[in-house]
Amino acid sequence: MTTQKLGACYYPEQWPAALWAEDAARMKAMGLSYVRIGEFAWSRLEPRPGVYEFNWLREAIDTLHAAGLDVVLGTPTATPPKWLVDAMPDMLARDAEGRPRKFGSRRHYCFSHEGYGRECDRIVTRLAEEFGAHPGLAAWQTDNEYGCHDTVESYSDAALLAFRKWCRTKYGSIEALNAAWGNVFWSMEVTDFDSIDLPNLTVTEANPAHLLDFRRFSSDQVAAFNRRQVEIIRNHSPGRPILHNFMGAFTAFDHFAVSRDLDAASWDSYPLGFLERSANDDAFKARYMRVGDPDFQAFHHDLYRGCGRGRWWVMEQQPGPVNWAPWNPAPARGAVRMWTFEAFAAGAETVSYFRWRQAPFAQEQMHEALLLPNSEANEACHDVETIARELASLNARVETKRADVLLIFDYESEWAWKIQPQGRDFSYFELVLHFYRGLRRAGLSVDIGPPDAETVRDRKLVLLPGLFAASDAFVDALAKSAALVLTGPRSGSKTSDFQIPPGLPPGALRKLIDLRVRRVESLRPGVLIGAETGHFERWREFLILGEDVECVIASGEAECALARHGKHCYLAGWPDETLLDAVLSKLFEEAGVEAAPPPRDIRIRDNGGLRYVFNYGPEPVDVSSLVGGANLLLGDRTLPPCGVAAFQLAERRK
Ligand code: GAL
Repeated sequence: MTTQKLGACYYPEQWPAALWAEDAARMKAMGLSYVRIGEFAWSRLEPRPGVYEFNWLREAIDTLHAAGLDVVLGTPTATPPKWLVDAMPDMLARDAEGRPRKFGSRRHYCFSHEGYGRECDRIVTRLAEEFGAHPGLAAWQTDNEYGCHDTVESYSDAALLAFRKWCRTKYGSIEALNAAWGNVFWSMEVTDFDSIDLPNLTVTEANPAHLLDFRRFSSDQVAAFNRRQVEIIRNHSPGRPILHNFMGAFTAFDHFAVSRDLDAASWDSYPLGFLERSANDDAFKARYMRVGDPDFQAFHHDLYRGCGRGRWWVMEQQPGPVNWAPWNPAPARGAVRMWTFEAFAAGAETVSYFRWRQAPFAQEQMHEALLLPNSEANEACHDVETIARELASLNARVETKRADVLLIFDYESEWAWKIQPQGRDFSYFELVLHFYRGLRRAGLSVDIGPPDAETVRDRKLVLLPGLFAASDAFVDALAKSAALVLTGPRSGSKTSDFQIPPGLPPGALRKLIDLRVRRVESLRPGVLIGAETGHFERWREFLILGEDVECVIASGEAECALARHGKHCYLAGWPDETLLDAVLSKLFEEAGVEAAPPPRDIRIRDNGGLRYVFNYGPEPVDVSSLVGGANLLLGDRTLPPCGVAAFQLAERRK
């Protein structure tokens, strides 16, 4: 168990060296422990091919270390310098139109370019040799936000060759590939692996199986790229945790797979930017414009805790208005503190603010920071000082215990339903988030994990809405588990080859509950299908129930909305809030899960013997009834807007 820490993202190369010592002293005085540096500094670390200038970085690390701060060093591979691009122009990624991405911002590389891969090996090796054993170096970050700016998929020649190789390894024979993809359809058959193309620029939609394999391949390329760096760093810098900073609402590669090679996961949390960019309606955005979506951050905290197998950070936390959303409002007073404690309540080891000082130049000059460009303290500085004091007095420790309720998140399902939504608004990500909101409305602390046997172990309730294809191993794990299981809508509706299962959906899940989906329909906005309690929207299914399957909730048209056999339930559509709450509360009761629904805008999180309560609403709320007689450790029983309270639920270990 470690104590929870604060940090900041810092760019020494962007400021005169004369400022560093003062910056470091101020960081320390503010209560920060970690400083992340270096992740975009390649042009300063190697200004010309093979000419390394590491002295400034050593001086920066020495200065931070001398002030009592720990450094997280980022590898600079998200920003290959101009000389490298000029020497190797085909390292540039190509977009789906086949056009090369240009130099002049960042992330312009193709994950499949072996020449670029070797350049990354070289710079990462040099950095790890040089700084890997430095006493001030506490952790590493690989690259920066893989996939940001839509960069996972590349349609370059390098990607094409690597994709052909990937297909050959996966299928062995071209006949097997043709069969798996169903290439007899529209005469798409190919005679050898060298005639496989990338699925872009086709006249109409490409074969969904081809598209899905390309997404799987692209995701594997990210994992392989990351693994190369991890192996080098582990060799030269053993004992220092290696992290990567993932993003919010970003699903273009499998984050569970990449995380398997890391020691901990982290993500970059920008609550107001994400809200403005989201698909929520204007009323929702107006209500939460200064505090962010009350569930979005928490969802990602849980997702990345799952990715990091319990170990995770917020590597970048928004401290003021950002520059990249359609509108960029300022946080409410206290919001930065509330976001920080939401993360700690979900078990974050560290929350680090982006960034220390606002840059007066280049792309992000409108992005605020802890300090103004002239070094005066900006508003969030005061929040941070308060948080540091409160953290010290709470003595909060990272303690995450397995939650009774598990919500499955599966990257392949997200790719599959993006490829074949069937209804414009069928979004897997939104579906899972919708279920998550239902669980938060019930006041529950939950885990999010991938569909595998290990994640399912020791749960009372497992939810797997929209799971594209269920593997036999996962179905067996569900069958053996004592948990109540909710599947559907759309779960198991394809084989992993992107075909309709021979026995009809829900495919392999039929082993758990004997029903067949004979028809599905998607519903335009505003169309509601009534069930006993609530409605289906967006999506609904027509079931044929096996003999021992019971219809628990009927829909108004003599169809079954919720079917059940033993501890396995199937939901035949996209439930609105009312129907979802009705279904979930039935399940909680039977699974022995204790729900404690808080008032609107109040959110609860239990962790390490503490119950944290947060107020995302505009009015003060008395939360006494949510905590019984528990001891108040932080905040007040009447929570003001953006208020945070922590209560001691059980005896805490010292
Ligand atoms: C993140 C990125 C940072 C910075 C920040 C601005 O996506 O990792 O480098 O661009 O956004 O909000």
